[in-house]
Amino acid sequence: MRKPLIIANWKMNHLLDEALKFLQDFKRESVFSRLESKNAPEVAIAPSFVLLSELHKKLQFNSVKLVAQNVHWEERGAFTGEVSLSMLIDVGCDYVIIGHSERRTLFGETNALIQKKVAAALGKHIGVVLCVGESLEERESGKTFDIVGEQLTTALSCHSLETSCHSLEKGNPELPTKLAIAYEPVWAIGTGKTALPEQAEEVHLFLRKLLLKQYGEVADQIRIQYGGSVKPDNIASLMAQPNIDGALVGGASLEASSFAHIIEKAFL
Ligand code: 13P
Repeated sequence: MRKPLIIANWKMNHLLDEALKFLQDFKRESVFSRLESKNAPEVAIAPSFVLLSELHKKLQFNSVKLVAQNVHWEERGAFTGEVSLSMLIDVGCDYVIIGHSERRTLFGETNALIQKKVAAALGKHIGVVLCVGESLEERESGKTFDIVGEQLTTALSCHSLETSCHSLEKGNPELPTKLAIAYEPVWAIGTGKTALPEQAEEVHLFLRKLLLKQYGEVADQIRIQYGGSVKPDNIASLMAQPNIDGALVGGASLEASSFAHIIEKAFL
């Protein structure tokens, strides 16, 4: 049984006082006190880089995990504006989101660049949430499986990497706990148009089969989250699908009560 993973992706939202207010409200939600129970989903928050350290102080004795929204693959050096894996680990991050569609489309991140980030992150034993997803045009022209298949297999391959990438190989015992995939159809992000549960499940099953081909039976333990206009009123039908193991939530995670309602529906 895979423990669902629910992540609040705040993107470029929330100043410090807004984030602190969120936490105050969130801790008052009844679901918060139940997060340590066995059937609770794993819950995490991905704030902006500048809030990571402060949120770590507030969350370190709770079961809510901390997630970064991006990372650079190099350890250190002249990379103005970038943040390294060691820096994220130093401020208490448990996971990092890699390859979000906004990074791909607005900041030109390619599959090859995402591959370097994934290999480096798993090599440092930090959890990875690897995002994949097709645009509307790609879906309408029947290319969904080609696009997400290419995104997944390139990001998880060792091919053409200059550095060692044992972390991506089949024998890495940490894979089931450290790697999660987020299927986020671009046309569903921030549009209010969620994928139908069956539509999402079709892609999740396809991704699961690719993972099984690459990693064998441990792939059954890798979580595949859905993202794209997830709301309190659609999460239950998505989570009812056999291969949907949680959600990466944007807009509906900005308010504590709405995020708490989503979490409620993800209890096993
Ligand atoms: P929305 O939930 O706002 O559609 O965003 C989804 C997303 O991009 C999460 O990473």
